[in-house]
Amino acid sequence: MKKRVLSGMRPTGKLHLGNLHGALANWKRLQEQYECYFFVADWHALTSDYQDASHVQEYTWEMLIDWLSAGLDPEKATIFIQSKVPEHTELHLLFSMITPLPWLERNPTYKEQRKELIEKDLNTYGFLGYPVLQAADILIYKAHLVPVGVDQLPHIELTREIARRFNYLYKKEVFPLPEPLLAEVPKLLGIDGRKMSKSYHNAIYLSDSPEVIKEKVSQMFTDKSRLRKSDPGHPDICNVFSFHKIYTPAETVAQIEEDCKNAKIGCVECKKCLAENLIQGILPHQERRHYYETHAGELKEIVEFGIKKAQMVARASLEEAKAAVGI
Ligand code: TRP
Ligand code: SF4
Repeated sequence: MKKRVLSGMRPTGKLHLGNLHGALANWKRLQEQYECYFFVADWHALTSDYQDASHVQEYTWEMLIDWLSAGLDPEKATIFIQSKVPEHTELHLLFSMITPLPWLERNPTYKEQRKELIEKDLNTYGFLGYPVLQAADILIYKAHLVPVGVDQLPHIELTREIARRFNYLYKKEVFPLPEPLLAEVPKLLGIDGRKMSKSYHNAIYLSDSPEVIKEKVSQMFTDKSRLRKSDPGHPDICNVFSFHKIYTPAETVAQIEEDCKNAKIGCVECKKCLAENLIQGILPHQERRHYYETHAGELKEIVEFGIKKAQMVARASLEEAKAAVGI
């Protein structure tokens, strides 16, 4: 029996290169080896953006288009939308009955976000319960492995605690304890040298046009200590070079590395070369993107199929959980 993998992303719209080479590349590998469930966590978007949820649907579909364009395969992985499988919310309610408040109040992610996102009123029941919903997402598929970033580790730990408590209270091993799966990802930063993130406005998008890519690449931070072309550079600490390693042929990468260290290539030229390779490199993705954008019916069918598959599994474990509780 293949182990089960489950993961979700909040709908943030079109994906950027950080997403592509981070979570998504990892999911693509996992679908070859495991029984995978990947979903858009649209209810989770509401926990912080309930005041204006007008983009959630649009962002959900943009993200699904990027997932498919990046090579998530609906024949291999079950791809769906959280809110279309209402069993998640029923299990969430059940878990909310048994989750002690202090477990949620001491959650580091919760405390941090309350402090950081001061412009939003996050003093809500739903926001506190974010990890309870996430536990329901994971446990309803009895997932063994959950690929996530380090920021999500407290949530996986809470999921394990909720599973343990459920099994103990109702004297039945309904839910296996899931393990987090941390992947090694290439370190691609945003054009300003910070973590690539939509909210920092420093991201390069898979949907960016060649002109936009050229402009963004030309603005990228490089080796800060290199002021002139005659200064030797340090490609190992240069974000442009990290991108070259992905998008530029190996011999050229080696040449750039040497020329940069010996002050034989300037950053302007180096970036021009990257922009060209990047534009070529994401072209196939953009073509697939265009295909799904113009074949909305097919896209819908793929997702409907995923929803049905997910729902069958979710239904069964929800019934099992309710039976164990006795309702
Ligand atoms: N909280 C996750 C994030 O912000 C998204 C998510 C929701 C998730 N439910 C999940 C991730 C279940 C893994 C498993 O990235
Ligand atoms: Fe970075 Fe290229 Fe400039 Fe070297 S030449 S510092 S690798 S941008």
